Parts: sequence; C-alpha cells; structure tokens
Amino acid sequence: MTTFPVERIRADFPILAEKIRNKPLVYLDNAASCQKPNAVIDSISEFYRHDYANIHRGVHTLSVRATDKYEAARDKVRGFINAANTKEIIFVRGATEAINLVAQTFGKANIKAGDEIVITAMEHHSNIVPWQMLCEETGAVLKVAPMNVQGELIYPKFEALLNTKTKLVAVVHMSNALGSINPVKQIIDTAHTKNIPVLLDGAQAIPHMPVDVQELDCDFYVFSGHKLYGPSGVGVMYGKQALLEAMPPYQGGGDMIRTVSFEKSTYAGLPHKFEAGTPAIAEVIGLGAAIDYLNEIGMAAIAEYEAKLLAYATDQAKQIKGLKIIGEAHEKGAILSFTLDHIHPHDIGTMLDSLGIAIRAGHHCAMPVMEFYGVPATARASFAMYNTKEEIDVLMQGITSLIEVFG
Ligand code: ALA
Repeated sequence: MTTFPVERIRADFPILAEKIRNKPLVYLDNAASCQKPNAVIDSISEFYRHDYANIHRGVHTLSVRATDKYEAARDKVRGFINAANTKEIIFVRGATEAINLVAQTFGKANIKAGDEIVITAMEHHSNIVPWQMLCEETGAVLKVAPMNVQGELIYPKFEALLNTKTKLVAVVHMSNALGSINPVKQIIDTAHTKNIPVLLDGAQAIPHMPVDVQELDCDFYVFSGHKLYGPSGVGVMYGKQALLEAMPPYQGGGDMIRTVSFEKSTYAGLPHKFEAGTPAIAEVIGLGAAIDYLNEIGMAAIAEYEAKLLAYATDQAKQIKGLKIIGEAHEKGAILSFTLDHIHPHDIGTMLDSLGIAIRAGHHCAMPVMEFYGVPATARASFAMYNTKEEIDVLMQGITSLIEVFG
C-alpha cells in the first residue's frame, strides 16, 4: 500500500500554515466546514479575472466561457457521485436548501394528510425541520426511527415504521454529531421493496467516502460544497430523472422558464427547471475544482487514511480519565464528539482555541441527539484528509492540560 501523501496535501492548503494565538493552527472543525486547497481558491480567482459573465444568457464570448465552465462542473459532480445524467444534478445553495426543495416540490406533490415520512433519531435539524413544516402544511405525520446508546439505528424498529402510508424515508448518511454511518444500502433496499423513495442527507458523508448513487439506488442525495473542500453557498441535489421530471419547480424566475406570458408560463427542462435566477457561478466552478482535486487523491484512499486517524484519536481519547465519547457506532466516520466531567463544552472549545486548536462546541444543530444523551452540548473534533496523528497528539495534550487546570 502506498503511503497517504498528507504532507503534500497540507502544502496545498495555505490556511494550514496560519498561526492562531502564536501557535500552529490545528484545524479540527471540518464537520462544520473544510478548508480550501489552492486549486479551489485559484479556480475562483482565475474565473473572476479572465472568464466572468452571467451564464446561459449571452452570445458573447465571456458568457459562453462562463457557461461552459459552469456546465463542466455539473458533469464533474455527475461523475463524482456516478449519476447517470447531468440532468439529475441540480445546483442549490447547500444541503439545507436541497432538502427544502425536495420537501416543497416532491413533498407537496406526493404527500397528503395522514401520510408518513420516516427519519431517524440522529438527524441534523436540516433533515427534521423541512419535514415538520411540510407535515404542518399537509397534515402528514413525521415518524422517527430510534437509535441505541452507541448511536446506531435500531434497524428492526426502523423497518417496523415502514407501511403503506410511508411516502418518503429521509435519512442521514453520516451523523454530524456522532459520526455514525447508517446502513444506507440496506435502508434503500428495504424501502424500495415497499415502493418508498429514499432521500440521503450526504452533507457529512460526501468528503469522507466514495459515493455511487446508482449503486446505492437512492432517489435523492444532497450535499454542500463547503464540506467537500469547495466554496460555501453552493450545494447539490441529486435526484433520479423520472422523479425530477414529475416534480413541480421550486422557485420561479429567470433561467427556469421556457416561455412567459402574463396568462401562463411554461418551464425549462432539467436541470434548469430547478435553478431559478443567477446561480453561484464562481462557487459552482470552485466546487468542480475541488472534485478534480479529490479525484487525484482518490476517495477510497481518503477513507482509509481517515479511518486510521479516527482509530488513533479514539484510542487516545479513551485513555483520558473523565472524557466520555458520545457516539461509538461500529460504522463511524472521522468525528469524535465528547464531554469532560465538570467542564462545559464551550469552555473546552475556548481553552483549546487558546492553544491554536479549532473544534466545535455546542448542540451541532442536532438538539434531539443531545437530548437523547442527556447533555446540553458536546465538544467535537472532526477530522479531514489533511489532519495528522501529531495534531491529534496536540489535541489530547490540550485536553489533558485543561483537565489539570479545571480539575
Ligand atoms: N452542520 C454543520 C456542523 O455539524 C454546521 O457543524
């Protein structure tokens, strides 16, 4: 096996050379947002310097160049998740907007009073609230499949929730608060035997593992660009073509129409039907550059490297007295949520920041998960492909020293 080129990768991320409070930055808040490589930063500045114009509108050279780059990025996304067709790749603002889009279009067209939507106990707010809003509007009912104390879906209980009233299963691929990776292939196969479509919230999973939407056979897969080493303000909604064709548009406006008159408008075909208004052009192109960059490294190699980082961090964390890991699923991505006896997570976050270490402290937009564990918040270190064992050592030393100070 070749060694993972972590030092070469680190050199591609200029921010990793920053000093925070005179200490080398140890950036472990990747589940909130990842840092950007030069390839992404340069692609955006090159675009603004040399090619910028609006897309799909002008016949002039710059508009054609911008359109070509934007549509090339769509094909890069298609290839990255192995979608069958670029018509199935819709650019949105992020995973949150993608889920709201599905709720407001697919949901309103297909879900009525008395119908049921099944989610899990480990969802991010963005895969809870849009469904609650839809349920309030339609009279449908939200059902929540429970998890065990390790943070794993209790599969028989999930399966028992599926019935003829279930019109959609919407499940997180990898939990942002716990790291748990759900058995999504099994979930999709089970739901499909009952003709229930499945949406996967891939916001956390996508930077950590290869994703093949055709192999999974999911009906919708959503993610954000900024967690995939790309820019913020752009995300992707993948949907199977037949489902997208049948869905009404989301927002009305420019670029999503075929004809407009005051009496009636007709809509553009896919994917433009769902992309009203001027999109985040430079950000889409930046996302394409992030995908090129990741393809060179290889998602399988990234997954293997990060699994070792997580195993090392977990092992080290278990040796710290008073540290409790929250979320110990057997299938788990590179996230270490924890609490310390007598020290509030916000104090952990602030103290670690004074050592140059960035983690997240809070409820991680997953309040029901915090409630399940009976904690108001956790501290969360989340790893990316550019993190190292040495950085994990710095984190563990930091935690040990703050236990000494507070202890
Ligand atoms: N959902 C992001 C997180 O987990 C922001 O931090």
